[in-house]
Amino acid sequence: MIDISDGLIKRLKEAQRIAALTGAGVSAESGVPTFRGEEGLWKKFSPEELANFDAFMKNPELVWEWYNWRKTLMKDVKPNPGHYALTQLEEIVPDMTLITQNVDGLHRQSGSKNILELHGNIFRSYCLDCKKEYEQPEFKDGLPRCVCGGLVRPDVVWFGESLDSNIVDNSLKESMKSQVFFSIGTSGHVQPAASLPIIAKRSGSYVVEINTEPTPLTGHMDEFIMGKSGEVLPRIVELLKKD
Ligand code: OAD
Repeated sequence: MIDISDGLIKRLKEAQRIAALTGAGVSAESGVPTFRGEEGLWKKFSPEELANFDAFMKNPELVWEWYNWRKTLMKDVKPNPGHYALTQLEEIVPDMTLITQNVDGLHRQSGSKNILELHGNIFRSYCLDCKKEYEQPEFKDGLPRCVCGGLVRPDVVWFGESLDSNIVDNSLKESMKSQVFFSIGTSGHVQPAASLPIIAKRSGSYVVEINTEPTPLTGHMDEFIMGKSGEVLPRIVELLKKD
């Protein structure tokens, strides 16, 4: 049985505003590979070759091949009990914001509405020249081309690129406003996402981490719940629903 403190349930029952930051670990139980760790994508693939703008311009075919492979993989996966529990939490708490680093769209698929996608979405792409957005860009000679003739790229944030400033501002605002903040299934290695739990804590939020192992963020937390998000989050919702 997963041990959830009475204190956390009491805080959640009283909270008007909560925020949750999610990372690849939340989708792991759906079958989406994480980035770090033994089985992580960055163990087998090089971010230098696949996840930065210069690499894309040098070899767009290779980068698109990798994204198309990931898209195929993500197209067939389904949200897991962790995603659904976060959706239920949004229905229970008056104001909840889900800040995700994941590009797989599974939070939306599970029914969550108030989502800030910090790193973009793999199912969107846009033209480098005219910025027209595409869901299914048409491939010609191995590359997706815009109606204007420009090269289309995935709408994800690559290493060295800036995040959408509105999304970052809103993430900061919601983290600071939150009364309870969850950091779930993220290794806490990528900025600015990794700063959000710390900023939330400094602003007075009660900060709780859920992860299968400790991370560099763990020492800053008010509570660390060791376990799978697909097991811990449904248990939290179950306890919240009890009177
Ligand atoms: P990581 O792969 O770095 O970390 C995943 C975390 O999830 C680890 O701390 C695991 O211990 C934990 N974990 C694994 N399975 C879990 C489970 N079932 N329940 C709970 N926790 C679990 O992924 P992120 O922190 O999301 O950026 O990585 C951040 C960013 O780095 C990604 O968005 C991506 C990557 O480079 C871009 O592509 C821009």
